[in-house]
Amino acid sequence: MKYLIEGGRKLSGTVKISGSKNAVLPILAATIITGKKTVLHNCPRISDVDCTIDILRHLGYEITVDGTTVTVDSSKESTPEVPRELMERLRSSIIFLGAFINRFGYAKLYPPGGCELGKRPIDIHLCVLSEMGVNITEENCRICCHTPKLSGGEYRFSFPSVGATENVMIAALRADGPVILKNPAKEPEIVDLQNFLRAAGADISGAGTDTIRIIPTQEFHDCEYTVCSDRIETATYMAVAAATGSTLTLTNAPLRDITKMTEALEQMGVYVIPKLPDMVTVIAPRQLKPLNMITTMPHPGFPTDAQALLMATLLKAQGSSMIVENIFENRYNHVEELKKMGAAIFVNGNTATINGVPVLHGAEVYAKDLRAGASLVIAALCAEGRSLIHNVHHIERGYENMIEKLQKIGANVQMLTESEQNSESVCLLKDEK
Ligand code: UD1
Repeated sequence: MKYLIEGGRKLSGTVKISGSKNAVLPILAATIITGKKTVLHNCPRISDVDCTIDILRHLGYEITVDGTTVTVDSSKESTPEVPRELMERLRSSIIFLGAFINRFGYAKLYPPGGCELGKRPIDIHLCVLSEMGVNITEENCRICCHTPKLSGGEYRFSFPSVGATENVMIAALRADGPVILKNPAKEPEIVDLQNFLRAAGADISGAGTDTIRIIPTQEFHDCEYTVCSDRIETATYMAVAAATGSTLTLTNAPLRDITKMTEALEQMGVYVIPKLPDMVTVIAPRQLKPLNMITTMPHPGFPTDAQALLMATLLKAQGSSMIVENIFENRYNHVEELKKMGAAIFVNGNTATINGVPVLHGAEVYAKDLRAGASLVIAALCAEGRSLIHNVHHIERGYENMIEKLQKIGANVQMLTESEQNSESVCLLKDEK
């Protein structure tokens, strides 16, 4: 699948933000520790959710999907093993490790897949779990965990890893005494996981702060929970408005969770006007201003997931800006592709200098990971002429109905099927040149 985008249009209207990808994935994995029925609302229809549902079905649990409501019945017994092919389809499959340790006391899992953002080790996950008493070995490329007992006590993360915090929170509910987690990740998705676990009967508090407190829980109950909205999708459409010189209203938008993106855009001259608690209007100025320096940091710092989105927007600013990527070592996958569209970006180690350009032009480009792909969509929407974006399966992992949402606000975008892609679209691109 590919996206064909004709850029240069002003957009207007309303975009409804979907449920959060990074919140729903660990929550879906956590449903298995309850052994009960969970009804989850506001689940985005994205391929990462489909993959997680495939894993749950493989385990033998009953799943029903009705629009954005997913019901998981995890009352059946099953075996804590996931085939390699399913594990490698996404990064957050690793959260089944904590869920299996909790429910079964043991797990055998292949390493996870997900976006290629440089090395993505799981040493912090394994370090805290082994401090808690989990025996960890490697067997035929699989991580084998055996848990004779999981000790309560105080544990510290060497770095506030999002995935490690989620894994340990879920596993720790089975410990033999209260657990205190120091230096956990504080991302809003961690708070959402806590809120879900509480809704299912767990005694856990402190998510979003420097200390999480967990009282082990044996008895869970059926529950109904609404997943939080996606702050990175919110940042994406804010960037779309800013880069295309448009006015867009976003509903279901968790503005309080994306303050660093809002601050950056405001410094660029964008008006970000909250209307209702979850509704915001974003108005682009006539000319965007550059930013001195943006550094990605763990929450509440500037999110690494919004770095590529901001970079595409900065291409339309008048002057030079700088971004420092501190979280992932290889998160400039979009740079070479943006350059094909006329971008002037210079990368030195983890620092990128972005020089605004008078015009971007349409080009044939490749999405190399999820947010890199979204940044190409933003650039293509403000470029002159047509762009053909390949490998959009990366984008579809995390954005619900992106094409429909963009069409609704006036963008000239379409999804091309395999048969259309090689003939007509490429001709269209050639005609343009
Ligand atoms: C999650 C998000 C991802 C986001 C990232 C940082 C999901 C599904 N993905 O990824 O979108 O970009 O948080 O906000 O929620 N690290 C280690 N050892 C570990 C764990 C992590 O060295 O055991 C390193 C990673 O390589 C990376 C950094 O820590 O450089 C951050 O990783 P982490 O916070 O764990 O991110 P993920 O959970 O993978």
